[in-house]
Amino acid sequence: MTNDEFKKRFEQKRLAVEAAIDKYLPSSDTRPSVIHRAMRYSMEAGGKRLRPMLLLAAHEMFPSEIDPMPACVAIECLHTYSLIHDDLPCMDNSDLRRGKPTCHKMFDEAMALLAGDALLTYAPYLLAREYSAAPRVASGLVLDLMDAGGSCKLIGGQVEDVLGERDGKMTPEKLDFIHHNKTAALITAAVTMGIRLADNFDSDKLESARNIGRDIGLAFQIIDDILDVTSDDATMGKTTGLDAANQKMTYVSLYGLDGSRKAAAQLSERALAECDKLSPDSEFLKALITYMQNRIN
Ligand code: IPE
Ligand code: IPE
Ligand code: MG
Ligand code: MG
Ligand code: MG
Repeated sequence: MTNDEFKKRFEQKRLAVEAAIDKYLPSSDTRPSVIHRAMRYSMEAGGKRLRPMLLLAAHEMFPSEIDPMPACVAIECLHTYSLIHDDLPCMDNSDLRRGKPTCHKMFDEAMALLAGDALLTYAPYLLAREYSAAPRVASGLVLDLMDAGGSCKLIGGQVEDVLGERDGKMTPEKLDFIHHNKTAALITAAVTMGIRLADNFDSDKLESARNIGRDIGLAFQIIDDILDVTSDDATMGKTTGLDAANQKMTYVSLYGLDGSRKAAAQLSERALAECDKLSPDSEFLKALITYMQNRIN
């Protein structure tokens, strides 16, 4: 796939995801209006939409008649909630997200907390509602998304991230736990949820999807750590330099920039090889993985 072709397909999918976000979220004037405005504010602020994109890339390899858009919106809701809460003063204390003031800066802390809660609970509700005609699909999607978001994974990673900041004692093992769970778990769910929309999939395909998700998810957080040091607020659309300011142990602080770049590249290479094993129709997924590896924001 040429780069132009990839960009065109990415843009088409991104627009479809944004239209679906607008369609499925409660309207801004739904009472209480402020919470729906806050939810929409963070959801519509932009963002790369990589999780929906991964879900669509996986769905494309094993197409079915089932509409992937509600699942795309659900995973973006869960991701956006995690960002709203991650930015709160009690967490990373960040003022800029997706090129705009963070939710708690635009509204206030109580509303940002509640907007996050509301997006988190909206995700499984939307899946249960929109896939009710296909109960096996619905339960598989809820299973993957809620597992990834739970206290053993995304929340667990955030917990150890916060604890690590407090006691400053970090080991490679702890850092991998944090990155695998706070970030790679949800990225893995994006790939497996795309597979679960297929008419028939087997456990081998799910396992292969998990391997891909784990590798690109870890690579993704390593690159996020790198960009926090090497990029700037305008390019990233979020406050950079925070990891160092918060004395966070990151891949960069543990392995340096070069070591981190090498680690991310190796993980992406392994994921690309796994894509070939998973399906002969993995062109878009592979192009997406390459794009994620080379991203600048
Ligand atoms: C940011 O995720 C949080 C991390 C897991 C590093 P993204 O970089 O995907 O954020 P958006 O969705 O593009 O804003
Ligand atoms: C965020 O990690 C992971 C989650 C939100 C679950 P970071 O704290 O590194 O993400 P950014 O850099 O604020 O986007
Ligand atoms: Mg954080
Ligand atoms: Mg943060
Ligand atoms: Mg970061």
